[in-house]
Amino acid sequence: MRKPIIAGNWKMNKTAAEAVALINELKPFVAKSKPEVVICVPYTDLWVAKEAIKGSKIKLGAENVAWADSGAFTGEISAAMLKEIGVEYVIIGHSERRQYFGETDATVNMRLQQALKNDLKPIVCVGETLEEREKNKTKKVLKKQILEGLKDVSDFTNIVIAYEPVWAIGTGKTATAEDANKTIGFIRSLVKKTWGSEVAKSLRIQYGGSMKPSNAKELMAMRHIDGGLIGGAALKAEDFASIVNYKG
Ligand code: PGA
Repeated sequence: MRKPIIAGNWKMNKTAAEAVALINELKPFVAKSKPEVVICVPYTDLWVAKEAIKGSKIKLGAENVAWADSGAFTGEISAAMLKEIGVEYVIIGHSERRQYFGETDATVNMRLQQALKNDLKPIVCVGETLEEREKNKTKKVLKKQILEGLKDVSDFTNIVIAYEPVWAIGTGKTATAEDANKTIGFIRSLVKKTWGSEVAKSLRIQYGGSMKPSNAKELMAMRHIDGGLIGGAALKAEDFASIVNYKG
């Protein structure tokens, strides 16, 4: 059985003081939650977040990681820096990184290798844009993102994939549960074909894109959907908690 994983992606929101306040609000709500609960926060919030989540089930994640060990990479943060804080998860290849910061499948793969080498658990994001979807290119795009982004990976134990259709991110538009399930099913079959059925059976694949309290239960009921990557709704303790506690 794949353990569901609900992860918040705070993006560029919350100062350190605001982060502590949100975590303190969130903690009692998720004390008895069944899924794995992760918050991926801005780099500047990581230290205080690590302290604030102590004694709770909440796990800590970052929103990116550098592809090199160290060196002249102004503005980047290395895996060792994250490890020292106690970060467990790291988002890689989010569509906003691809869209605004030139992230490609090749750089996704380099960051992924670095995360794995340092025992960070990567949440690798894939997804098609509206234009690609309308041109019927979804499968082709996902195939390229997965085969190139996950190139040379042999151990999938710590990897999570997040399927996030770009047109559903921050727009209020959600893929229907059936649609999301079908596309994630396609990803699972691609993984099976490429890396074998054991990997495909155990790999956790999240849905992301305007997931909220009102649609979480329906999405999570789907066979192939093992969790959610939550943007906007992760910034309000009650909303995020209600997604985490989708089973009631
Ligand atoms: P959203 O963002 O929930 O605000 O659509 C999801 C994401 O970008 O990970």
